[in-house]
Amino acid sequence: MGTIVLKKRAAAWLACLTALTASACGEPVEPDLSAYNAAGPAEIPVEILGELDEQTLEKLVEEPKYVALTFDDGPKADTTGRLLDGLLERGAAATFFVVGQQIPGNEALLRRMKAEGHQIGNHTYSHTRLSKAERDTVVEEIHKTEVLLQSVVGAGSFWLRPPYGAIDTQRAALVKTPMIYWSVDPQDWKLLDAEKVVQAAAEAVKPGDIILLHDFYPTSVDAALALIDRLQEEGYAFVTVEELFRIQGVEPQNGVLYASPVRTRGLN
Ligand code: NI
Repeated sequence: MGTIVLKKRAAAWLACLTALTASACGEPVEPDLSAYNAAGPAEIPVEILGELDEQTLEKLVEEPKYVALTFDDGPKADTTGRLLDGLLERGAAATFFVVGQQIPGNEALLRRMKAEGHQIGNHTYSHTRLSKAERDTVVEEIHKTEVLLQSVVGAGSFWLRPPYGAIDTQRAALVKTPMIYWSVDPQDWKLLDAEKVVQAAAEAVKPGDIILLHDFYPTSVDAALALIDRLQEEGYAFVTVEELFRIQGVEPQNGVLYASPVRTRGLN
């Protein structure tokens, strides 16, 4: 994925640099990439290379900055569907922590997530605060969603995001997958204002972050897509949480709560 982003960016730069009219630079450019696919990264003609300053050259060759968008509390027919359309359009992957009771009736959305390269995780069956639940309830809340997910998208490891990020040591010991917290929380559910959410997330984000959003609200979908557009311009590439761990060379452990691949969150 990283190479594709680099190619796209390099190709967009080239389209812009070689354009005869200035207007080509102001609009989103979707260049024909077929010429670049066979030979690896885009080749930059020598006559153009000579024109570029060092900073621009660095931008062309820099590694993408990886970040993971995560969406909780779905799937929800209208909002999740629109989000998937937008992610596909932008070549961005994401991770969905789904609530089990939201699955019936939305199976097609889950199959689409899987088919389009997104990661699916578990957000319990009924959005239960696990840190206050009985042991049996903790196990059941996770298991019911796992069974449902398996029946819809097949076997897999469905990492857990505990609702409210709340789980204690004793109950975490019951969890047989890694647990994912977040490192950037723009409070989309509270702000319900796409522009403010984009602002909050863009100010806080750095490479390797896990961003918390909710595909339950139309404003959050708007925010997510605008945020992707903005951060892709800045050289960010959007990967699943699993890919983010792989890229950083971290093997996540079961029952551990991660704020990012390199930062765990303490349990009570
Ligand atoms: Ni939630």
